[in-house]
Amino acid sequence: NGALVIAIDGPAGAGKSTVGRAVASQLDLEYLDTGAMYRAVTFAVLRRGVDPHATDEVARVAEAIDLVIDDDGVFVDGVDATVDIRGREVTGSVSAVAANSAVRSEMVDRQRSWVLEHGGGVIEGRDIGSVVFPDADLKLFVTASPRIRAERRVAEIGGDVDEVEASIIERDRKDSTRSDSPLLEADGSTTVDTTGMSIDEVVAHILTMLPAEG
Ligand code: C5P
Repeated sequence: NGALVIAIDGPAGAGKSTVGRAVASQLDLEYLDTGAMYRAVTFAVLRRGVDPHATDEVARVAEAIDLVIDDDGVFVDGVDATVDIRGREVTGSVSAVAANSAVRSEMVDRQRSWVLEHGGGVIEGRDIGSVVFPDADLKLFVTASPRIRAERRVAEIGGDVDEVEASIIERDRKDSTRSDSPLLEADGSTTVDTTGMSIDEVVAHILTMLPAEG
């Protein structure tokens, strides 16, 4: 599986990470969560007291930070941000940071270097099949209804389903309507609607779509 690149995109809370990790482990590939990268930049921005909408300042933070994402967690300039990047504060500001073109180009560079270094991998995000790796071996758009996504999230970490659903819909709206690299179904991607499917079923289904080795 040396240079196999699998791109997984889709809206918030669709189970991309769980599915992506499982597919990577089945295929003995490395896995990259690019959402964690945008979240880590947002964490650094908030920590420095920078306004998430301050275009130039935010760009400078993105360019300057040391970002490590591995099995131990997410580290921003040596600080463990694993838990905080999933919190309300970061989640509420990440779409604004991710709409910043200079931030995106910095992250895309880092993502491409990562794939070169690791010789392929499973890469998950919003623009992987459309912008970062348009020539990926397999491009997937993993989705489910907002209600189902909210219910799954609440089953995992608690909260109010209506509130979680509203916040998912709002984040998807911001991510889909930005001008740079909006969330969309990339050309040549296959949509996997996971509504009513278990994780195992989704993973098994994806594994049947792999291009023949050769
Ligand atoms: O995947 P996750 O929900 O953790 O992503 C957090 C946010 O990061 C998204 O809502 C989006 O604004 C941004 N993102 C992005 N491009 C990616 C991955 C994530 O803009 N490739």
